[in-house]
Amino acid sequence: MDYLTIALPKGKLFKPSSDLFAKLGYTAEGLSDKSRKLVISNEEKKVRFIITKTADVPTYVEYGAADIGVIGKDVLKESGKDVYELLDLGFGRCHLMMAVPEKERRAKLSDYANTRVATKFPHIAEEFFSRQGMQMEYIKLNGSIELGPIVGLSESIVDIVETGTTLRENHLTEITSIMDATARLIANRVSFKLKHNRIRPMVEQLQEILDGNQ
Ligand code: PRP
Repeated sequence: MDYLTIALPKGKLFKPSSDLFAKLGYTAEGLSDKSRKLVISNEEKKVRFIITKTADVPTYVEYGAADIGVIGKDVLKESGKDVYELLDLGFGRCHLMMAVPEKERRAKLSDYANTRVATKFPHIAEEFFSRQGMQMEYIKLNGSIELGPIVGLSESIVDIVETGTTLRENHLTEITSIMDATARLIANRVSFKLKHNRIRPMVEQLQEILDGNQ
């Protein structure tokens, strides 16, 4: 039997993802996002986990370096990668929105036309603002996006909100929601065909587990 390679993202999705695979018996000693070991296998189940930076999961899966992976719908959409989306895993629920400093709130969305937006999601942001007929300047950041408007780098941000704590603590207010997101199970298109006999039953089992959680 071939190994099934599963890409798991470091960060917030790591624990719920590894817990979910553990329910299938796909466990591996030392599997942790804090681990310096990047490839961890379960010889008996013929499963190999690779632990990657969140934004890189779709790349490993698109190229077939991982057969399947777990990634947020937001990051998946931003990546534009060509992979199969097999399941909505339900966890990692959040939404992508535009926010500005509370004190600089303008009357309507179009009042922000031609201003600067700091974001980790320039493609999704551009798609959204062009649909509103708004031209913007996009400043790509890799983290702590909320800092942008506080220090005058940009007028607004487009970023993820989960609990709302980061917005509150930095005195930012949401202007408009752009998309909702949850974690997805994705597969490489070729692996999905060649390893169908492994991936198909796994997806069915995962679906049963998720249905039981509801
Ligand atoms: C994400 C996101 C927000 C924060 C939102 O950042 O970019 O900053 O979480 O969560 P909250 O609504 O629960 O406060 P993350 O922690 O992934 O780190 P980053 O700033 O390095 O991207």
